[in-house]
Order: sequence, then structure tokens, then C-alpha cells
Amino acid sequence: MDHILVIEQVTKRFGGLVANEDISFAVTTGEIVGVVGPNGAGKTTLFNLISGEFAPTQGTVVFCGTDITAMKAHVICQRGIGRTFQIPQSLDDMMVYENVLVGALCKRKNMEEALAHVDEVLALCGMTELKTVYAGKLNVPQKKRLEIARAMATDPKLLLLDETMAGLTATERKDAVSLIRKINATGVSILTIEHNMDVVMSVSNRVVVLVSGRVLLVGTPEEVTSHPDVIAAYLGGGANQDGQ
Ligand SMILES: Nc1ncnc2c1ncn2[C@@H]1O[C@H](COP(=O)(O)OP(=O)(O)OP(=O)(O)O)[C@@H](O)[C@H]1O
Ligand SMILES: [Mg+2]
Repeated sequence: MDHILVIEQVTKRFGGLVANEDISFAVTTGEIVGVVGPNGAGKTTLFNLISGEFAPTQGTVVFCGTDITAMKAHVICQRGIGRTFQIPQSLDDMMVYENVLVGALCKRKNMEEALAHVDEVLALCGMTELKTVYAGKLNVPQKKRLEIARAMATDPKLLLLDETMAGLTATERKDAVSLIRKINATGVSILTIEHNMDVVMSVSNRVVVLVSGRVLLVGTPEEVTSHPDVIAAYLGGGANQDGQ
């Protein structure tokens, strides 16, 4: 099987706190894999380890057959892992297209080419009309979309989405799901953290359930939703469905 990402026995400690413990799973090339779990389960930490924000305390992260565990975030980005941030990291004093340009310049040094790429990405993300709007003026769903656009501008092979649907209405979530499917159809593999169970189950090929920093289960949406431990630990565990 062709794996784009292999996580092997990854542990991350912050002092005495174990945020990720002995996590192992793989993403097959072309897959959409959902990551669910209660607040504080270690989902964002896992993304920070994959994208090079932090190094794991133990374990390895292999991307496209290369061990990227000790690599810096900008190198990992250049190798083809793009990410969004749970709290949007937009540059509010810059226009939408300038924010996306930051991503485009990650791989392109020619400004004309980079600007042309920005237009392509804005079109893909349905943001063409917002091109010259200041990022600080965007509403929540538009900021979430800008996160995706900036990540897509780096030409990722693997896209990490951290709660891109939190705070969206049902209609906005539907639009976001179709964008994720559209991105996936262009050949980008996706790992997506999502609290809304309906969304994650409808969009994911497989789902990883994290509880207290550990993998409780990896399975198809059907396997996950019918698993008694998941119902007890997550669905019945008091986690807010919208992650708010
Ligand atoms: N940089 C850090 N320093 C210290 N502790 C951290 C750091 N980042 C995360 N943690 C801790 O690690 C644990 C896991 O946090 P993480 O943000 O990964 O959870 P999460 O599953 O993304 O939660 P949420 O659903 O609320 O976003 C928490 O107890 C958190 O306080
Ligand atoms: Mg998080």
C-alpha cells in the first residue's frame, strides 16, 4: 500500500503532561482521514508534530518515504505538507490575495508566476471576489477559507485541516465539505480534525479516534460510530459537537 504519511509510535511530552502517547497510524495516498476526539485529546499537538512546529519526544513521522521527524516547519512545508491553524493566522492588515501570496512564494520565486498561482487558488476556494478585501474584514467562514487557500497555495501533497468547520452554520459547512472534496479530487491527501461527527463521518475514508493523547481506534466511519468505546468516550463524553 502506498502511504503518504506514516506515524510510528509518536509521543509528545510537555513537561509532565503527555499530549500524545505512542501514536501510530498511516494515511494512504489519496485518502481523507478524519481525526476526532474530545477537547485536549492531543489532536492539534499531533498536527504540530507532523508539520514540524515541535519535534516529538519519541517516535518518527515519515512523509512520502522520507523521515521528516527532525525537519524544520518551512522545510516540511516545501516538501509538501500544508496546514491550517485552529485559530486563523491571517495577516489582517494585508489583503486576501497578499495572504495567499505568502503561501505561493513558498515554492515560487518568480512574482508573476506566484500571482498567477494565487488567482488559481482563490478560484478553487471560491474567494476570487474577496481578492482585494483586507483579511481583517473577513467573517469567520471567510477566514477559515483563507486558511485553506494559504495552505493550498504551497502546493501540498498532504493537507492538514485543524477544525476548519468550527463555528460555521450548516450551509457553510456544506460548502466547506464540497471544497474539501474538490481539493481531494485534485490529488491532495487530507488529514482533517473535526468535531462535527456528521461532517467527519461523511467526508472521511477512515477516522482516527484520539482520547487522552492515545489512539483509541482507527476505522471506517461505520466502524467508529458503532464502537461502544467511542460512544462512551467521545460521543457520550460531554464533548461539544461543534467544538465551541
Ligand atoms: N505548547 C504546549 N505547551 C504545553 N502544553 C501544551 C502545548 N500544546 C498543547 N498542550 C497541552 O496538550 C494537551 C493536548 O492539547 P491539544 O491542543 O493538542 O488538544 P486538542 O485535541 O487539539 O484539543 P481541542 O479540541 O480543544 O483543540 C492539552 O492538555 C494542552 O493543554
Ligand atoms: Mg485543537
